[in-house]
Amino acid sequence: MVSTENAPATRTKTSLTGIKPTGEPHLGNLIGAIEPAIAMAGEHESLYFIADYHALTTARDPELLHQWTRSVAATWLAAGLDPHRTIFYRQSDVPETFELTWILSCVTGKGLMNRAHAYKAAREANLAAGEDPDAGINMGTYNYPILMAVDILIMEADLVPVGRDQAQHVEIAADIAGSFNHLYGSGYRFRIPEAVIPAETTGHTLPGLDGRKMSKSYDNYIPLFLPAAKLRKLVRRIPTDSTPVEAPKDPDSSAVFQILAQFATADDVAETRARLEAGGVGWGDLKNQLADVLEERLAPMRERYEELMEPGSALDDALAHGGEIARDRARRVLGSVRTAIGIDR
Ligand code: TRP
Repeated sequence: MVSTENAPATRTKTSLTGIKPTGEPHLGNLIGAIEPAIAMAGEHESLYFIADYHALTTARDPELLHQWTRSVAATWLAAGLDPHRTIFYRQSDVPETFELTWILSCVTGKGLMNRAHAYKAAREANLAAGEDPDAGINMGTYNYPILMAVDILIMEADLVPVGRDQAQHVEIAADIAGSFNHLYGSGYRFRIPEAVIPAETTGHTLPGLDGRKMSKSYDNYIPLFLPAAKLRKLVRRIPTDSTPVEAPKDPDSSAVFQILAQFATADDVAETRARLEAGGVGWGDLKNQLADVLEERLAPMRERYEELMEPGSALDDALAHGGEIARDRARRVLGSVRTAIGIDR
């Protein structure tokens, strides 16, 4: 018989992630990050936020920073994030974050920041170029992992869905929480967070227009909200080999098919696979099919996105509401921390 006597008390886990508003969302983001995170939000208590202050390490155009913030928020809502289920907010609406950032800076070793990969990569690039190692690196870039740790810890999150490139930052957050707990654990203990990498567990990654992984940094992406004609034009640019129309084709070596496989129904994917293997279907036909499938999937999302981007739309209400709830939560945690460290008694 299974005994529950020694089982740990079950409590709902909390999942949290931050979305940096630095670029146009693309198909790869939808499949690899947005949809899996929305699915996860259904299984846990969830908090998803726009990390607008993280973007400030590179964003220098005020208009663009503002616009990207709204655009990224509108994308997640259009993709199906339910702001009644998920606490959805802007990082900048939780100013408690910045007070805790100072507090946790004081328990974080400088060496830990020296080892953070983004800063290390920037330094190595400078060295390789024969420049001063810190040339052009601002303190925001250096302190970035502490701010990210605070985002996570101040909301007492357990699970953090992120891309592989952010896993180290979540480990750093766990380290910082450990240092604080070691010093002040009798007054307050942070929860120790853990990264979850949806793209790897679901295997949902997409090839881009050059066949490499679809990514902003390769500039090979298909933006999510293109007008239908432009979408079709981009789909035509996906590279294919020169197998003649009548010849049998290998679906698995085709970027067009791989993208189709993530967007079409299972039946359509199986049927298309069989047609390609039989021969008689040209790559041009397959591209037309992909453009149709994408248009069908994306058109309603695009319409919703455009509504949300209007000034004074439901987007602003959703963020204001989420911001209040998130802020209450942060206030409570910060209050306990202030007492634990002796600022308040
Ligand atoms: N650094 C993350 C990225 O570049 C964004 C981010 C900021 C984040 N704060 C976070 C992600 C907290 C998860 C949890 O993608």
